[in-house]
Amino acid sequence: MKSASPDAKNPMWSGRFSESTSELVAAFSESVSYDARLYRQDIAGSQAHARMLAKVGVISQSDADVIVDGLDRVLGEIESGAFTWKTALEDVHMNIEARLTELVGDAGKRLHTGRSRNDQVATDIRLYVRDSIDVLLQLLDTLAEGLLGLAEQEADSIMPGFTHLQIAQPVTFGHHMLAWREQVLRDRSRLVDCRKRLNLLPLGSAALAGTVYPLDRHYVAQQLGFDGVTENSLDAVSDRDFAIEFCAAASLILVHLSRWSEELIIWSTPMFGFVALPDRFCTGSSIMPQKKNPDVPELVRGKTGRVIGDLNALLVLMKGQPLAYNRDNQEDKEPLFDAIDTVTMCLRVYADMVPHIVCKREACRAAAAKGFSTATDLADYLARRGLPFRDAHHVVGAVVGLAAQRDCDIAELSLETLQGFSPIIEADVYGHITLEASVSARKTYGGTAPDQVRAAIARARSAKP
Ligand code: ARG
Repeated sequence: MKSASPDAKNPMWSGRFSESTSELVAAFSESVSYDARLYRQDIAGSQAHARMLAKVGVISQSDADVIVDGLDRVLGEIESGAFTWKTALEDVHMNIEARLTELVGDAGKRLHTGRSRNDQVATDIRLYVRDSIDVLLQLLDTLAEGLLGLAEQEADSIMPGFTHLQIAQPVTFGHHMLAWREQVLRDRSRLVDCRKRLNLLPLGSAALAGTVYPLDRHYVAQQLGFDGVTENSLDAVSDRDFAIEFCAAASLILVHLSRWSEELIIWSTPMFGFVALPDRFCTGSSIMPQKKNPDVPELVRGKTGRVIGDLNALLVLMKGQPLAYNRDNQEDKEPLFDAIDTVTMCLRVYADMVPHIVCKREACRAAAAKGFSTATDLADYLARRGLPFRDAHHVVGAVVGLAAQRDCDIAELSLETLQGFSPIIEADVYGHITLEASVSARKTYGGTAPDQVRAAIARARSAKP
């Protein structure tokens, strides 16, 4: 972006003022250094407004045509890098309007009829968040698809399932990937929900009270792809709850990615060795030649804090504001844009990485075999033979104690030894306490059995449009 000269009085309101804004205040209050990125939405909004003004007879059709063409030229200048952004013109809205007027003369000065920057900026941000959501929805779909593929590939792969990060019961790696996918699907529906609520046009609210011109707000809404128009002008120019909702949804996306990151970081240590991440998602160490560091998951885990911070910033920004528009709201942009940029980048790298996560099946299986993960299966075996579950739990606790002493799995204890703990144990017990038997037995809907995992994958595939 070409930077600007802090120049003369602001021509937009110089009529009322006897001196120009001080340089310090101009530097303090400008937003163009960060809201320039709204230029596409701002231009689209202005073009729709101009067309509508002509349609309802507030300006002539020829003025509207001149404005629309002029704005296309401004767009071209911005995209080619030829546009000079001026901090003295404060924000994206005044920069674009001033350049339009330079290019087309008086018609440009008619554009702002029946409009205020208050409803203009509210419109621009809604459009910007909506466009960003559409990108994020695609990334979430790619990510969910990647997880489905990985789940299918690893439907039979056994790994330890954890509670308290202690080995609990064996699960399938595919089941774990489907758990992640559920989180993605909810994240997706939260964004869809947020999009629905924000997709209403504020323009026509003017500064706060509406306007004296016979604006056709529905016509503008239609042109800009809004589902309708906002109901109350005071509310429409002042609330940024849609941005807060977006940041809450973005925070949850990152909280999920951060949890996966934590798992991937642990799983890729030599002590676990459950997964290998492709080299292109890792970095080495400048001093330790053996190192392969999981930087992508670590950075995603780290960036989660930023987005939660952005959400917090917006909540606190809003909480003290009386109706209607207050300049505080200009401060919505940096946290909002940061949240959008961060969640987009994080989803991009995860969508790219997930299909290439390598499950190290042997290591996963060996870890599940080590932690007495089928102890519950032995207790269930005893309970099915009539021993009250609480007693069965006690008996198996003692069996595990012995296995731990001997440094072997409970399935490696002889039938005689097992019968020493409970005479109702028979030879068929070994068909229940292997890892494979344990996972296959968990075939409740949504359970970890490979058949259930495959059924869930089939449901996911057939649910697609
Ligand atoms: N740049 C401002 C914002 O981002 C919009 C301008 C409204 N300013 C005003 N003084 N009414 O919210």
